[in-house]
Amino acid sequence: MKKEQSKAIGPIIGISLAILGFLIWLIYFKTPGETDAEWFAKLPAVNASLNALSACFLSFGLLAIKRGLKKAHIAMMVSATLSSSLFLICYIIYHNYQGDTRFLAEGFIRPIYFFILITHILLSMVVVPLVLLTLWLAISKQFTSHKKIAHWTFPIWLYVSVTGILVYLILHNFNAA
Ligand code: HEM
Repeated sequence: MKKEQSKAIGPIIGISLAILGFLIWLIYFKTPGETDAEWFAKLPAVNASLNALSACFLSFGLLAIKRGLKKAHIAMMVSATLSSSLFLICYIIYHNYQGDTRFLAEGFIRPIYFFILITHILLSMVVVPLVLLTLWLAISKQFTSHKKIAHWTFPIWLYVSVTGILVYLILHNFNAA
């Protein structure tokens, strides 16, 4: 690994672990706050929409660079980063009031839901450092490395965004409580 590349690894791992530690504390250890505000009930749908937006920006961003449209690629990838960051903020606000969600449905949907949820959670832990590294490699004009890492970042980020929508749809349609 080049010297300029390894320089960014420490801060990227630090930021990613700080986000992960904060989310684990928020969802599993913090006592949830109380609210009956109308906007709160709409947050899961807002979050799913932000994930859908990220998936669209990502797909158009890849199409753009495949056609050599660099400005469009940058605009789409920056928009994907902003919509995913906004998702993270709304997710944190939601879990400030709601601890972990119990899945009560029985039958065929149960293994499907847990497969999607577990792969979604595991890959979302990996996606934060990957996105930060991919962005940093682009900003520091290390495009050969950017392209190499981005070949991992793109499918993982897309998977996390799409499964985020699926988790919402399954909970919305199958969870009775
Ligand atoms: C985290 C967000 C980003 C992702 C996931 C991403 C993804 C990709 C991917 C998958 C490729 C390779 C396309 C191929 O197979 O031909 C690529 C190439 C490229 N990206 Fe990005 N990109 C991101 C952000 C950026 C940014 C912010 C810039 C500019 C500052 C940028 C500039 C470029 C350039 C110039 C190439 C072409 C490199 C070459 O062919 O040598 N990307 N990007």
